[in-house]
Amino acid sequence: MTRHATDKPVVLITGASAGIGDAIARRFAAGGFNIVAVARRPQPLARLVESLSAIAEVKTMAADVAAADTPQRAVQLAMESFGRLDCLVNNAGSGRWAPLHETDDAMMNEVIDISLKAPFRFSREALAVMKPGSSIINVGSVYGLVGGLNGGIYCAVKAGMIGMTQAIAVQYGANGIRANVVAPGVIKTDMTKDFWDTAGFQRTNHEMTPFNREGTVEDVANAVHFLASGEGSYINGQTLALDGGWSTTKFLSMDALLAERVPA
Ligand SMILES: NC(=O)c1ccc[n+]([C@@H]2O[C@H](COP(=O)([O-])OP(=O)(O)OC[C@H]3O[C@@H](n4cnc5c(N)ncnc54)[C@H](OP(=O)(O)O)[C@@H]3O)[C@@H](O)[C@H]2O)c1
Repeated sequence: MTRHATDKPVVLITGASAGIGDAIARRFAAGGFNIVAVARRPQPLARLVESLSAIAEVKTMAADVAAADTPQRAVQLAMESFGRLDCLVNNAGSGRWAPLHETDDAMMNEVIDISLKAPFRFSREALAVMKPGSSIINVGSVYGLVGGLNGGIYCAVKAGMIGMTQAIAVQYGANGIRANVVAPGVIKTDMTKDFWDTAGFQRTNHEMTPFNREGTVEDVANAVHFLASGEGSYINGQTLALDGGWSTTKFLSMDALLAERVPA
């Protein structure tokens, strides 16, 4: 049963048990939101509840976002707990990478289920209860803007997310509901740990990024919170790359440009 709306705004975040989603939860809690946090693992969700208990009420749902009934149940949890839903952050994602010729149907369907169908269903359920002033933020990737070697189905779903977001923006903007994408570059989380552990990857990322540090989960969380806040209130249907300039330049460090090519 929907309860009387609480005073604080409410955000529903998928994939809030780790990495970028965990940071988004912390940023929204600091920004005065109550939270509905969805992910499969209950233990990290319980830790999130405890660590934010002084500043936010956090309701959790340990569930697979790809299950067809999870989005409806999660929005129901928000309405029963808080009586309102002001922001949806579709963040849960699978980081499975392979070129097309190595991607079988099982892998293709898994990534589509988690990173495209689930955000679609969550958005559909959220839009049914959201009031003017609410917004949806989808966590895409720079690999939805440009091709990534071995990107395969990952690039396809992240590009699809941009199309879905633009459709929401045009359809529901007149109702005062906005939708945007954040497109992070490679951020250090469990998903990308193997990349970051490789010296060659670190060097290449540095040489391709016209900025003097790596992106952090807080960089992403701050941008998501900004887009959801009143300060982002005229931003609708956009994709905001959070990559230090990586996707919009052909930057190579002077060291890289001047390096001798090692003969094969
Ligand atoms: N890290 C990067 O460099 C980077 C760059 C661009 C975009 N992104 C995007 O950012 C988002 C978050 O990635 P991350 O780097 O923070 O990864 P992460 O540290 O591996 O966290 C992924 C989160 O998604 C949840 N999740 C995964 N599959 C799920 C499922 N089927 N049902 C429910 N929850 C699920 C995980 O929770 P459980 O395991 O508890 O279910 C976890 O909370 C993803 O959409 C990713 O594509 C990441």
